[in-house]
Amino acid sequence: MKSSPLFFAVSSKISSCRKLFVTQSWRNYSSAAQQPHDLIVIGGGPGGYVAAIKASQLGLKTACIEKRGSLGGTCLNVGCIPSKALLHASQIYYDATHSNFSKWGIQMSPVNLDFPSMQQQKDKSVKNLTSGIEFLFKKYQVDYFKGEGTILGNDQVLFKSNQTDSEQLLSTKNILIATGSESSQLPFLPFDEKFVLSSTGALSLQHIPKRMIVIGAGVIGLELGSVFNRLGSQVTVLESNTERISPFLDREVSHTLKKILEKQGMTFKLGISVTNGHVDTLNKKVMLELESNAKGSTKAKEQIEADVVLVCIGRRPYTQRLGLENVGISLDEKGRIPVNDHLQTSSPSIYAIGDVVRGPMLAHKAEHEGFSVAEYLAGRSIPHLNYNAIPNVIYTHPEVASIGQTEQDLLTNSIPYRVGKFPFVGNARSKTIGEGMEGFVKVLTDAVTDRILGVHIIGMYAGELIAEAALALEYGASAEDIARTCHAHPTFAEAFKEAALMAYDGKPLNI
Ligand code: NAI
Repeated sequence: MKSSPLFFAVSSKISSCRKLFVTQSWRNYSSAAQQPHDLIVIGGGPGGYVAAIKASQLGLKTACIEKRGSLGGTCLNVGCIPSKALLHASQIYYDATHSNFSKWGIQMSPVNLDFPSMQQQKDKSVKNLTSGIEFLFKKYQVDYFKGEGTILGNDQVLFKSNQTDSEQLLSTKNILIATGSESSQLPFLPFDEKFVLSSTGALSLQHIPKRMIVIGAGVIGLELGSVFNRLGSQVTVLESNTERISPFLDREVSHTLKKILEKQGMTFKLGISVTNGHVDTLNKKVMLELESNAKGSTKAKEQIEADVVLVCIGRRPYTQRLGLENVGISLDEKGRIPVNDHLQTSSPSIYAIGDVVRGPMLAHKAEHEGFSVAEYLAGRSIPHLNYNAIPNVIYTHPEVASIGQTEQDLLTNSIPYRVGKFPFVGNARSKTIGEGMEGFVKVLTDAVTDRILGVHIIGMYAGELIAEAALALEYGASAEDIARTCHAHPTFAEAFKEAALMAYDGKPLNI
């Protein structure tokens, strides 16, 4: 490698970079440049910042390079956190305008919506959290480099500052790639963030569109579609799957969720291919051409229009300008960085985690992987991640949460199973809330061993309840273990105990 033309090209690039650094940014980074780091993390999202903090806590000299200008990645800046703030605020507004508050003895005067203030409040939550991570970096002495990192060699990263326009060569024993993902777009309808929105554009809208089309009934489509539906937009969701929304969910949960969201005012069109589209800037609307892809359909074309279109058809790994070619790392067919069980790439000193590698694109999965790599590098433990015990939450109202295998997975894999299901209508705490009675907990167990194989919940606080199921799967609990565990009364969690009781003993108590 050292004598290859690539190395020559890289090393001459390094010398010029070094010169640049010496003249322009020595003052800022002198100590960092003199001593090699043990670990340089590229990307300061949930995977990267967790890895950086943990590695530093374990005594590794650690740096994190992040170009966004604030830490926390997509999740904190333009994803999970701002969407949860808007989901919360829009639900308060929806309750105030749609619920029968007087039955609780609460009289309302007219309710007015100040959307810019709602957005400002959301921005405050984001700022609060992102600056919190910066504080933690200082506290745990993680060197924070604001700019772009490009890998030049197995132990070298070129840092380009986005503050001073300077460059600096950093040497390191290990590199961790945690660069995340970006929204996929339709080739004929690129994002302009005015009429054609990615989730980022939708989260920063300053007005409520009258008509919104959402393409993709996945996690983002259902969450952001819910936000704007609650705030008064007429929301139509187009989904290519012919049978159900969020096809990765347990079928029964998916059907129940669709019915509930339809009752809330959202419209779904399943089995739809968007074949073309354009923005009519003169009339300020977007036109889409649709075709049914349902079996036996006539493929008749339909045209629909809206004020804005939100495209959420998945995300793709982000590896631009990372310099993977400099270290011989090639991407798989989905654009992901291949890694082994230790999250190590084909170059042993370079690791990769989160959305940029295989597995679900979830913040907590990335965190989990980042934590493991830090421990591994510090010589503490070998990564041992149970990818079957990663919970998935959709923050609609009610929430949906699932973990492990669905009934369809078990059927496909011919695994004999038992089902325990308990509706929230039989749960005491739900009854005190009224609307909390929607949904159920479904527990799937191995028919022979009683071990829990999957848990699927639709209902209020499902996102919190799934933590108990995660623990159950991680520790290999049986349904009997859960059914015999004392649960506080009255709590929503009792529904999990009842569903487990049904799976193990044939019937629940309270229904
Ligand atoms: P997704 O993978 O959740 O859903 C995409 C949906 O679009 C699927 O239902 C798919 O069948 C459909 N689809 C794909 N191409 C289509 C087309 N051309 N026309 C119509 N429908 C089409 O992707 P999404 O919602 O964009 O989210 C991206 C990632 O971010 C996911 O991995 C998700 O898990 C993650 N995320 C997680 C959140 C959470 O944990 N609450 C919140 C937001 C995002």
